[in-house]
Amino acid sequence: MDRIIEVLRDRIGEKRLGHTLSVVEESLILAKKHKAPEEKVKIAALLHDFAKNITLEESVKLVKDYNLELDDVTITSSELIHGPLGARMVRDYFNIGDQEILNAITYHTTGRENMTTVEKIVFLADFIEPARDFEGIEVIRKRSLENLDEAILMALDSIISYLINKRSIIHANTIHARNYLLKKGIGE
Ligand SMILES: [Fe+2]
Ligand SMILES: [Fe+2]
Repeated sequence: MDRIIEVLRDRIGEKRLGHTLSVVEESLILAKKHKAPEEKVKIAALLHDFAKNITLEESVKLVKDYNLELDDVTITSSELIHGPLGARMVRDYFNIGDQEILNAITYHTTGRENMTTVEKIVFLADFIEPARDFEGIEVIRKRSLENLDEAILMALDSIISYLINKRSIIHANTIHARNYLLKKGIGE
């Protein structure tokens, strides 16, 4: 873990390292509460923003070098590209082959349908870590300790409303994630 933190400090800087460590802490609280594998959650949370400080131009270049096939929405947004690119990069940097960890990193921004508990926890922890502040966050924080699916549905509602208000593109995975939960009857 110390080696990862040193590499991270170099790559993403002190400020984002602070965010990352908060996400780790939050993830471990949720992992304990929901009986998820703590080691996996910890590694995924530690590495979730690994590619965040790379410019979009450089990210697109790396995506080509790695032969990653990304959709046209992801490839044009640094908000989105750092998930899948980061997952690919940590495979190389730290020899991480665990697909669940890699998926948690890949989908931490968009979410997706049928997420595993590890994916759900990293997605939520990133959204509710202590430095985040927006209307309704306290309710989501509280719910995340009780019911992950309900908390994620609330987070997705909040993300989608925010993106609509900004007139931003919404990634299809985010819509699919929400539809999936609604079809399961979450939030009724
Ligand atoms: Fe991120
Ligand atoms: Fe993050």
